[in-house]
Amino acid sequence: MNIHNVAVIGAGVMGAGIAAHIANAGIPVLLLDIVPEGASDRSQIANTALAKLLKADPAPFMHKKNARLVTPGNIEDDLPQLADCDWIIEAIVERLAIKQDLYRKLAAVRKADAIVSSNTSSIPLHELVAGLPEDFAAHFMITHFFNPPRYMRLLEIVTSEQTDQDAVEKISQFCDFKLGKGVVPCKDTPGFIANRIGIFWIQTAIQEAIDMGLTVEEADAVVGRPMGIPKTGVFGLSDLVGIDLMPHLMRSMNRSLPTDDPLREKATIPPLIQNMIDTGYTGRKGKGGFYRLNRDSGQKIKESIDLQTGEYSPSQPAKLDSVKAARDGGLQALIAHPDKGGQYAWRVLSQTLRYAAALVPEIADDICAVNTAMKLGYNWKFGPFELIDQLGADDFAQRLATDGQDVPPLLTMAREHGFYRHNENETLYLQPDGSYLPLQRPPGVLLLADLKRHAEPLLENDAASLWDIGDGVACLEFHSKMNSLDPLILEMIEETVELIPQNHKALVIYNEGSNFSAGANLGLLMFAAKLGGWDEVDKMVSGGQQAYKTLKYAPFPVIGAPFGMALGGGCEILLHCDALQAHAETYVGLVETGVGLIPGWGGCKEMLHRWSTNPRMPRGPLPPVLKCFEIISVATVAKSAFEAKDYLFLRHTDGITMNRDRLLADAKARALSMVEGYQPPEPPVFHLPGTTARVAMEMAVNDFRAQGKATPYDAVVAQALASVLSGGDTDMTDTLSEDDLLALEYAQFTQLVRKPETLARVGHMLETGKPLRN
Ligand code: NAI
Repeated sequence: MNIHNVAVIGAGVMGAGIAAHIANAGIPVLLLDIVPEGASDRSQIANTALAKLLKADPAPFMHKKNARLVTPGNIEDDLPQLADCDWIIEAIVERLAIKQDLYRKLAAVRKADAIVSSNTSSIPLHELVAGLPEDFAAHFMITHFFNPPRYMRLLEIVTSEQTDQDAVEKISQFCDFKLGKGVVPCKDTPGFIANRIGIFWIQTAIQEAIDMGLTVEEADAVVGRPMGIPKTGVFGLSDLVGIDLMPHLMRSMNRSLPTDDPLREKATIPPLIQNMIDTGYTGRKGKGGFYRLNRDSGQKIKESIDLQTGEYSPSQPAKLDSVKAARDGGLQALIAHPDKGGQYAWRVLSQTLRYAAALVPEIADDICAVNTAMKLGYNWKFGPFELIDQLGADDFAQRLATDGQDVPPLLTMAREHGFYRHNENETLYLQPDGSYLPLQRPPGVLLLADLKRHAEPLLENDAASLWDIGDGVACLEFHSKMNSLDPLILEMIEETVELIPQNHKALVIYNEGSNFSAGANLGLLMFAAKLGGWDEVDKMVSGGQQAYKTLKYAPFPVIGAPFGMALGGGCEILLHCDALQAHAETYVGLVETGVGLIPGWGGCKEMLHRWSTNPRMPRGPLPPVLKCFEIISVATVAKSAFEAKDYLFLRHTDGITMNRDRLLADAKARALSMVEGYQPPEPPVFHLPGTTARVAMEMAVNDFRAQGKATPYDAVVAQALASVLSGGDTDMTDTLSEDDLLALEYAQFTQLVRKPETLARVGHMLETGKPLRN
């Protein structure tokens, strides 16, 4: 893509995060800032920023070694180095004169065709390039990242007629493929797309909550989950991003908003909030925000602010019938409900969605750009126009009219067929001129959601489905709660392996839930254990072992395509695939010990096989066993797909896709590349050290216990794990088969699951989502 060297200028919150993410793409990056007055280290700001990046949580780097790709420096001494850069990103203070001063320096040093972009949130493109050389302006654009740059998927790009189209294409492709961003072209309008609508939504939701006398918990309960918005809602979100940020953005946007823009009316900051900012209650980074943790009593007590008086008191969960109604009846039931939650929902939604509808085509060419921007920039599950379709465009317009509110022209056009129309084979979306265009994904983007709208599954049960994704490849999709693995999924695996050879040649395991899989269904395990249904429990263990083995030795390539969490049984299924194509944001690990168990579906066996055949392992029987013990006993979870390679959860040959939307197509391509001449793997044989290794591992655990790092029950679980990994009652002269190892896993797992301490851990995890240290 012709971008080999990048520079980021401004090593603040955004610049440093952007530099780290460029390094995540494997690209060297220069990170420059000013020379602080009187500093002995002239690159102190960038050096400090790099050190902070390495400590930040969540981590800006996908792998610590990426930090080596970032070279800190300063804008005075290192300016000449910019002549080597293909892309220079400006992320300095939000002041036009200072930015332009920098651009003049850059214009003098940049090489021909080098692209310069600004990360500005609020300064229009035409102001940034005013008075600068024509060729500089042709290679200049706004690339607006969201914070934190590694994790937020939206990248808004603002260009003008003057901008060189090749430059736009180059940056868009790079950000899409290499940085994994959802690139959304925006017009040169205030706040671009996401902040224009996002700030309107936040200001409206806050003001209406104050006016209607809602508590912050009630407001967040309404504008969060029921609307497909993260449960932080609007007050929790403000605490997270900083309560001072919105008024700040608001003020700078106000300079360029049209005079009659409804957002202007929202610009006043309520006295309560001004007071919070003035007294340092700016959210999580300050003394607290709308919520705070009060530690005065020695305990952490969650408190929330009274929106009328500004006093804090212990947080009370919201109890609103409208929110309950939304669980079954969706958005329509929410806004139709007469309680204050329902009325509040209508007030916030009606204003926000109407505002969004009135802004197309002013801020974006089409509704898809707006939907994508809100989904990727504010983590909304549905974009504004998808929300209107859920309410029914006609019903929505009618209720607006009844309320005496204008119906924007675009909404009027949508009244008959909605913003999206689904035909038998395709989905169409409404254009600003009233016509409908087929929704087309870029080449290399394949979404199961699109395919499912127009196809029937090859196989289906309540927990999983099998889909034909074209070219002879099938896709196994989990759709159980949290994609947890249960007997229905195991059954589906067996049926899939039987069906595929009839009409297909390869299988991809992939889904589009929030996470690939949270692991085995612990609820079922708990239920059976409570009733003493040990036969059921044992069947689940052997059923999983059998299903994963069937998958491993299937006569066709099986590719796992994980993303998000792939834990426990979700990790074990991946260990049995021929290859993986993982999304970069994959968090994979064998976490069974956290609930008092050990991997029982072949996880120990596969890890042992991987580590003992790893050429980098020191020779001898002990090192691979100890390595597996080190990884599994503390429930290690890799924090990215790159890190997963360190633990061999991913093989070094496995592929990594940066852009989530490209994962399925990449996995399918990988599957197809393996079809010709495919042979299932040879069953492994093991020579394990037996008692000597077991004793070594037990000693290590005893040390941990003595240091207070492990509980007595951790030691019991670790012993069970040590017993499997050492090969049980064996020595190096014995040859153990795969089934011998599975039998060991089975024996230890089924013993642990009968222990009350394990059941207490499982129960606690199910209730709280957190491990119990018993
Ligand atoms: P920041 O205040 O954290 O960092 C700005 C950095 O620029 C400082 O380290 C400062 O020393 C440096 N700087 C100032 N003048 C300079 C110059 N002439 N040459 C080199 N370095 C210089 O600011 P932040 O938040 O990182 O914002 C940077 C840009 O990103 C702004 O344009 C802002 O609007 C935009 N932005 C900010 C977001 C956020 O959430 N903070 C989100 C998206 C965009």
